[in-house]
Amino acid sequence: MGEFTGKTAFITGAAHGQGRAAALLLAKLGADIAAFDVARQIEYPAYEFGDAKELESLKEEVEALGQRAVIASGDVRDDRAVREAIDKTISAFGKIDILFNNAGICAYAALDSMTDDEWNAMIDINLKGPFNVTRRAVPHMIKAGRGVIINNSSVMGLRGGNRLSHYTASKWGLTGLTKAWAIELAPHNIRVVSIHPTGVNTPMNDGLAAMEGSTPLEIAERSAGNLLPVPWVETEDVANLVVWLAGDKARYVTGAQFVLDAGLLSR
Ligand SMILES: NC(=O)c1ccc[n+]([C@@H]2O[C@H](COP(=O)([O-])OP(=O)(O)OC[C@H]3O[C@@H](n4cnc5c(N)ncnc54)[C@H](O)[C@@H]3O)[C@@H](O)[C@H]2O)c1
Repeated sequence: MGEFTGKTAFITGAAHGQGRAAALLLAKLGADIAAFDVARQIEYPAYEFGDAKELESLKEEVEALGQRAVIASGDVRDDRAVREAIDKTISAFGKIDILFNNAGICAYAALDSMTDDEWNAMIDINLKGPFNVTRRAVPHMIKAGRGVIINNSSVMGLRGGNRLSHYTASKWGLTGLTKAWAIELAPHNIRVVSIHPTGVNTPMNDGLAAMEGSTPLEIAERSAGNLLPVPWVETEDVANLVVWLAGDKARYVTGAQFVLDAGLLSR
């Protein structure tokens, strides 16, 4: 018996990066996994998104761990795709215990050259996306009388980022949603928290650096943010935090923000 035996987790942006790591650790600890991802290149930003092969291989890895897996491709901006994925999950598992709102994008853009399309994509994916998914998942949690929602914000949801005004706004917005949902959902025994990582070693990190004509290490050195002598944290570090927050050890934790920042916010 694992800590999450009998539990189900719905994870957005699960094909690769932090979502995939959280899915695999939760599965290792006994959870069944519903993995949702856009699984194709979208118009913005110009870096590598997850793909259908990664979703398929995640399913195989979860099943090899002895757990059930449901995969669904769709965009968090698309309410119909979200509803279909939630319905598919409920048909397969009967419930959603844990929702990890993880899908998101990032790109640098100076304020005076930012386009409407860039602003809208950032806000629609990073802020409206979690709203879309949560409003469709929550009725099932309310029915069950329990649930945990973990929002993947960023250190940029607690500070400002240079040439990141749209990203910063979206991530502060997600911090705000965390507070508001914690209040609204506490009477239903549903906990809501946000996590705030520094740079994480994922395709997003690599893609952002490439878009700047740099390496991830050069970007990390230039920003000199972390106190601890590491350029970034690993996806496993994020997964460990997600698992603690999702579990009963955190049963009275709600409405709170959890930094995983190697000390960055202490500067
Ligand atoms: N990488 C970092 O340095 C870092 C730091 C702090 C916070 N974050 C946040 O963590 C989350 C995960 O980031 P990551 O580093 O794993 O990124 P990533 O780009 O490596 O992976 C993100 C996954 O989300 C999927 N996705 C993107 N847009 C989507 C959409 N519209 N609908 C459905 N799926 C979509 C992608 O296909 C991909 O599989 C994001 O919300 C990001 O803003 C990242």
